[in-house]
Amino acid sequence: MPDFFEVVRSQRGTAYYKPDPIPDDVLNQILEAATRAPSGSNRQPWRFIVMRDREVKRRMGELYREAQRRMTGSAPTRGAEDGPVHFSVGMEDVPVLVMICVELWQIRGSEIYRGASIYPAGQNLMLAAAAHGIGTRLTTIWQHCYEDVASLLGVPDDWAMMAMTPMGYPAPPDHLGGSRRKPVSEVTFIDRWGNAGE
Ligand SMILES: Cc1cc2nc3c(=O)[nH]c(=O)nc-3n(C[C@H](O)[C@H](O)[C@H](O)COP(=O)(O)O)c2cc1C
Repeated sequence: MPDFFEVVRSQRGTAYYKPDPIPDDVLNQILEAATRAPSGSNRQPWRFIVMRDREVKRRMGELYREAQRRMTGSAPTRGAEDGPVHFSVGMEDVPVLVMICVELWQIRGSEIYRGASIYPAGQNLMLAAAAHGIGTRLTTIWQHCYEDVASLLGVPDDWAMMAMTPMGYPAPPDHLGGSRRKPVSEVTFIDRWGNAGE
């Protein structure tokens, strides 16, 4: 296993996936890492829908592209210069898709609480995948077809879908690592907003 900080640096949004399957024990370890995340009052208000069925993944890809059409007015096509959404064309070939859901009844009335109790689990999942050399990409654009996706996956009304990630080994030209981020000095204040320190 790589060093933790190597893993953190390697994790990035993968757009191209090999169809190679993810072994069950590896997938279970990744999901177990997700369940180690913190949540408000340790309620663990998460469910992970692991999509492996080709037809479910194909339909998910269709809805993803329809959502993109609704949002931007155009849909991606295979081979086009649209790296970030490339996986939505042929989504059935991505070995696994994971929909991350949060329970609503215990957090109604607090949007912050909802996100704060689910995204740490999503980040754990993505980091654990990266530790295995597996690419992921947190996506939300499909929310523009929320009702259709909920119906496809049978998500009940008292649960909300918060993020979906494809999961698979990166295919060239993609690779883990190489994300571009602002330096710590640019995004950190000391004691008070705007105070950059020394
Ligand atoms: C809240 C959120 C929503 C996102 N939604 C999408 C999405 O719908 N589709 C997509 O391809 N990437 C999506 N991303 C991935 C970002 O575009 C990606 O993390 C960012 O561009 C940094 O890319 P990198 O990690 O490869 O450097 C989302 C990320 C976040 C945090």
